[in-house]
Amino acid sequence: MHSETVRKIIRAYDDPIVRAYCWARFGILRQRFLDEIGQYLPETGPVLDIGCGFGLFSLYYAATGPRRLVRGLDVDARRVALARRAAARLGLDNVAYEASDARDFKGDAEVAAAYMLDIVHHVPVASVPPLLAALRRALPAGGRLLVKDVDTRPAPKRWFTWLLDRAMAPGTPVHYWSAEALTAALDRAGFVVRRHLMVDLLPYPHVLYVCEARP
Ligand SMILES: C[S@@+](CC[C@H](N)C(=O)[O-])C[C@H]1O[C@@H](n2cnc3c(N)ncnc32)[C@H](O)[C@@H]1O
Repeated sequence: MHSETVRKIIRAYDDPIVRAYCWARFGILRQRFLDEIGQYLPETGPVLDIGCGFGLFSLYYAATGPRRLVRGLDVDARRVALARRAAARLGLDNVAYEASDARDFKGDAEVAAAYMLDIVHHVPVASVPPLLAALRRALPAGGRLLVKDVDTRPAPKRWFTWLLDRAMAPGTPVHYWSAEALTAALDRAGFVVRRHLMVDLLPYPHVLYVCEARP
């Protein structure tokens, strides 16, 4: 049933390049990844997707959790417009998008949970701790922040990911955090962190950080 949801979401984009990207992205991330991340999201309440891109994941988690209110933000206004259009086509009224920079996120309205999928390595290093602190402010004690990002090791997997990042966004610098460094930053921001590798057929060094806001 959920793979049908994925197909419907992909069909909701009219730009063939975006559709191809989405097939590739969902192909890489697979249903198992969607479930692995989704199992940690609450069934109700506001959920924040920082760096939502075209909206693939926010659309999926809104479609599979009708009592959630998913809010996606991304700095790329074109991506946000495509996400909005896809949401309208799918008839989803529990997802909303805004074009804004994660660095401006203040965390002044409470959310039940938040996630950032492959975004931390795109944010300038000095801006990551303030962003994590703002996310901590936005969450209640025990609320979850999920972060999926790329580890620095093993080096060949990092290079593979770097080449793909260069191909997708040649003008955007990236900085990959080691799992230890990102765990320490999350801890300093006020989260209890568990992390595990997300095993993939492709050589991505994905790590999922499951973070709970400390009281
Ligand atoms: C690799 S894409 C991941 C998109 C989406 N999370 C996904 O998994 O499909 C990274 C996204 O981060 C966005 N991004 C980069 N820097 C950002 C920032 N400072 N604030 C908000 N979004 C940002 C880019 O526009 C891009 O859509």
